[in-house]
Amino acid sequence: MDNTDVVIVSAVRTPFGRFDGVLKEIPSIDLGVMVVKEALRRIQLDPSEVDELYYGTCIPAEYAPYLNVPARQITLLAGFPADSVSMTLDRACCSSMTALRLGFRAIRSGEASVAIACGAENMGNTCHLVEAGNGRWGKRLGHIQMVDILFELGYGKKGFNPVALDAGEVALEFKIDRAEQDNWGLRSQERWATAYEEGKFKVGEEIMAIQIPQRKGDPIVFDRDEPPRKTTLEKLGKLRTIYGSPTVTAGNAPGMNAGGSAIVIMSRKKADKLGLQPLATVETMAWDAAEPKYMATLPAKSINKALSNTQKCIEDLDLIEINEAFAAVTLVSLKALAEMDAEKYSALQEITNINGGAIAIGHPVGASGARVTMTLMYELMRRGGGCGAAAICGGLGQGESIILQV
Ligand SMILES: CC(C)(COP(=O)(O)OP(=O)(O)OC[C@H]1O[C@@H](n2cnc3c(N)ncnc32)[C@H](O)[C@@H]1OP(=O)(O)O)[C@@H](O)C(=O)NCCC(=O)NCCS
Repeated sequence: MDNTDVVIVSAVRTPFGRFDGVLKEIPSIDLGVMVVKEALRRIQLDPSEVDELYYGTCIPAEYAPYLNVPARQITLLAGFPADSVSMTLDRACCSSMTALRLGFRAIRSGEASVAIACGAENMGNTCHLVEAGNGRWGKRLGHIQMVDILFELGYGKKGFNPVALDAGEVALEFKIDRAEQDNWGLRSQERWATAYEEGKFKVGEEIMAIQIPQRKGDPIVFDRDEPPRKTTLEKLGKLRTIYGSPTVTAGNAPGMNAGGSAIVIMSRKKADKLGLQPLATVETMAWDAAEPKYMATLPAKSINKALSNTQKCIEDLDLIEINEAFAAVTLVSLKALAEMDAEKYSALQEITNINGGAIAIGHPVGASGARVTMTLMYELMRRGGGCGAAAICGGLGQGESIILQV
């Protein structure tokens, strides 16, 4: 422990919503405001103490009606002073972990002593688009076509594959077949259900309750993740694969979800000065990239990079969280971390996503990097401490990771 340590002092998220669920019309900016206010409220921290807010998001078609700079809008709407500094960033699904890394760097470099990393997304609130060549510059005659950028969730217009296709093909290269991915999908649902029964994922730790105004009557109090579902291997085996993927289905993938998450970090020195109890120490963070097709390997590549920063090895980790962008991603990355050794692969599975992952909880893309970080942290806290790694992949072959000590 030393004064230059970067520590987490508050971490919270909304419950995650289904694509067509109760959050479906709440702008991601509003979800961002809710989590930022709650993260500060929990530690009674005045917004004027925050040097920088970094905000990760990756579906700009969702916040397009409100123009841009959602980070700036969030700080103003959350009651920060007008001279507060903020930045919006897009590193696909890595975005809110990247936001945390930028805060970590700023504090480590001495440029800041308090930062907030936030991420929010509401995929169900995404607009259909009319491209300028079709709409604004119009057609003299003919139908105007609308585009749904969520369809095939990929970067097809610039010639890249749907991510589900790449992930499925790479899983097969790693000898991880559809049955193994379905098993992991089922495990995610079952682990979440057990954890919830045990009192985890309830309001107070990572989850906050939110009020959703209704056109008529009282607001709905939304206080539990909506995406988890009961299923069986038999049902999972019958699902069709999506977007040309050889293995990925709605059952071994997350849905398209809504939610926000926020983490407050500061130097240990500042936490001491404010009398705040650190929840965890951020040992290091790492990021990486590779060929877009190999997106599924990026959590492993980023964890290895982070471990080498700290002179630690994989055996030093008590717990791992790897975002289930698909079951294929978590399994490919675990196999890569195990260097293809069957015994090591199985041992790593035992300590990974032990309370379920995004397949059950949901994956509101920009919010997930901060979500896996806090899920890891709260589980380490429940166990009385330990060291863990969280990692996430992002579209077009990006990755991000963090190593935490509790
Ligand atoms: C997979 C996807 C296309 C499904 O979208 P959807 O059709 O709106 O999803 P639904 O929840 O209606 O599920 C589709 C079907 O699968 C079934 N299903 C989904 N999960 C299931 C499960 N765990 N067990 C059994 N059946 C399941 C649904 O009941 C539904 O069946 P129906 O068609 O008979 O009603 C969409 O969620 C998606 O694109 N997910 C991936 C998101 C992604 O790529 N994120 C980024 C990663 S980098």
